[in-house]
Amino acid sequence: MTDASKLRLGVNIDHVATLRNARGGEVPCPVRAALLAQDAGADGITAHLREDRRHIVDGDIDALMAALSVPLNFEMAATEEMAQIALRLKPHAVCIVPEKREERTTEGGLDVVHSEAKLADYIAPLREAGCRVSIFIGADAAQIDAAARIGAEVIELHTGAYCDAHAEGNFAARDSELKALTEMATYAHAQGLEVHAGHGLTFDTVAPIAALPEVRELNIGHFLIGEAVFMGLVPAIAEMRRRMDAAR
Ligand code: PXP
Repeated sequence: MTDASKLRLGVNIDHVATLRNARGGEVPCPVRAALLAQDAGADGITAHLREDRRHIVDGDIDALMAALSVPLNFEMAATEEMAQIALRLKPHAVCIVPEKREERTTEGGLDVVHSEAKLADYIAPLREAGCRVSIFIGADAAQIDAAARIGAEVIELHTGAYCDAHAEGNFAARDSELKALTEMATYAHAQGLEVHAGHGLTFDTVAPIAALPEVRELNIGHFLIGEAVFMGLVPAIAEMRRRMDAAR
């Protein structure tokens, strides 16, 4: 397998910060987790600086930029404040996600179709600054077309509905979500977009997504951090990596 065809694993360390913030101190440290993940074979680190700073805070992003040798995928909402931060730090990649204050996690993909002109203007300076711009969207051809038109290089397909259906034991819904993800990965690749996927992936759900030949990167967080409580972060990442490679 050449490096170009290798499926990359981005480890999202947001929920190490969730745990830290539950007590308001310094531990556990998300940067320490990111460095451990890097040593354990993560190809990149993902962190979402939310508007309400409920987990990752500004200082974490600064510290990650300084400490990491693998690329940082900086997830953010399309706000002016976040654009300023991204333009100051120039992370390797910026993933634009929808954000609602009341949601527990990123519930759906971005609606690119209905804010196409605004998003095109928004991402242009980020691209000029050298950031790879990724757009987090559902498995929907119209959204993919719009992402391609605004000049995004990457789309990340939202795997949350597929994972939720699996967890609920609704295998008909799971299979139909997987079919849509499969078709849309092929479709997006044909439009010249690099395809990533993520949200809610677990040991049980990762293989069919990792098997999609057009998918180049998976971003996985909550499950790995949860599993780290039981088996440790390094073995959890190693096991995820093993399952991804086996599916490939
Ligand atoms: N990809 C994107 C764009 C996300 O917003 C998230 C959640 O922050 C993830 C991947 C990772 O999802 P999870 O933590 O459920 O693995």
